[in-house]
Amino acid sequence: MRVDYRVLGQTIAALTEGEDDVVALMATVACEVHHADDRFDWTGFYRVVAPELLKIGPYQGGHGCLVIPFSRGVCGAAARRCEVQIVDDVEEFDGHIACSSSTRSEIVLPVRDRSGRLIGVFDIDSDLPAAFDRADAEALGAILAQVFAK
Ligand code: SME
Repeated sequence: MRVDYRVLGQTIAALTEGEDDVVALMATVACEVHHADDRFDWTGFYRVVAPELLKIGPYQGGHGCLVIPFSRGVCGAAARRCEVQIVDDVEEFDGHIACSSSTRSEIVLPVRDRSGRLIGVFDIDSDLPAAFDRADAEALGAILAQVFAK
């Protein structure tokens, strides 16, 4: 099954309407995105909890590591640079944090609030190589903006 981002965006908008609790929003987005596409094997958030520090937030899939400094991993790079990271082959990414040995590729997007402040990152890992492209980045970025920067 391949995601229909238009439908996914509408579903998430309907489910989150009127909600402003960040954990409730993250849990809903992680669940809806995770189950929308067979490529997505781990889907979840890391939250900025201190300067240069991410901690696990709501997610779907196997266990994720609990703490990621901005200096480490794909998630850290997305937070540090405040830009989307698409990694076609995690073995080629220096400093990749392997929580699951089956992960082959991933996408990580920064998550900003209404004021533009970085509140976390959204990480999707796939067991397929090169599972993500710019179209995923754009559609997922639009959904994150719709939910967290409204
Ligand atoms: N892929 C991430 C970490 C994996 S998670 O804990 C699910 C990274 O290298 O940033």
